[in-house]
Amino acid sequence: MSVNSITIIGGGNLGKAIAEGLIASKFVKPNQITITRRNTTTLDYLKKQGVKISSDNKTAVKNASIVLLCVKPFQTKEIVKEISKSIDAKQIIVSVVSGVTIHDLETEIGKKTTIFRAMPNTAIAIKQSMTCISYKGASSAQIKTIEDLFNTLGKTITIDEKLMDASTILGACGTAFAMRYIRANIQAGIEIGFDASTARLIAAQTVKGAAQLLIENNSHPEAEIDKVTTPKGVTITGLNQMEHHGLSSSVIKGITEAYKKMNP
Ligand SMILES: NC(=O)c1ccc[n+]([C@@H]2O[C@H](COP(=O)([O-])OP(=O)(O)OC[C@H]3O[C@@H](n4cnc5c(N)ncnc54)[C@H](OP(=O)(O)O)[C@@H]3O)[C@@H](O)[C@H]2O)c1
Repeated sequence: MSVNSITIIGGGNLGKAIAEGLIASKFVKPNQITITRRNTTTLDYLKKQGVKISSDNKTAVKNASIVLLCVKPFQTKEIVKEISKSIDAKQIIVSVVSGVTIHDLETEIGKKTTIFRAMPNTAIAIKQSMTCISYKGASSAQIKTIEDLFNTLGKTITIDEKLMDASTILGACGTAFAMRYIRANIQAGIEIGFDASTARLIAAQTVKGAAQLLIENNSHPEAEIDKVTTPKGVTITGLNQMEHHGLSSSVIKGITEAYKKMNP
């Protein structure tokens, strides 16, 4: 199916990141994107690039091929109610809102529409997101359109909707978890002699390279670790010290506790 225009409802962290990614990927032209929020001043930089800015959700969704819902969970019900009359059966609704199900959205819209859920992360702004999608009742042309959209913004996989909360923790919160690991490397890097800026570059590029090794070699982390651990060497000493202080355990605990917080 052809995509004439995309409307992003909620120009916050994620909404802006998606708009930036869509511009960078050339999936659509900037003037085919409309982005809304109540206070539009922080969207001026997108307006300068040709994106349409609005605080009128009802008008913004009319005739859009795809409507992306990027608001906070507690704002969703009211906003969906507001736009539901302006939505028709041809449009695709994509919600990135965590914790709000396709069934919740169907009930709120109250008429036949095609609804996708997507769980990207903020690396979508630089076309490096991991995006998990799920859908109900979509045609193969609609599925291809949404996969194409998110594939231009990183990697995309389809998951069962019941795994959406798990993908929120592993994929979306995962960006923050990875940042803390990198920050710890920077702090240690400064202690062993680098200035902050050099430590940041070394830490970030090293983590990026390690992740790329796993993706390109389709390998297990432990196989890559075996390649760099010399018997009695410094790498294994460092790794074992980290494990004595609970590295793997604290990461697993953080992820599982965050998941429990979403599913009390
Ligand atoms: N951040 C992430 O990495 C991430 C990843 C995956 C999924 N998500 C999900 O994405 C959603 C948005 O997260 P976020 O971090 O981008 O939140 P955010 O920065 O608070 O963005 C929400 C935006 O919605 C706007 N908004 C509120 N009421 C509105 C209305 N009536 N009409 C139009 N816009 C309205 C707000 O702007 P105004 O107050 O100016 O209207 C705000 O800019 C959440 O549901 C979150 O669970 C986030």
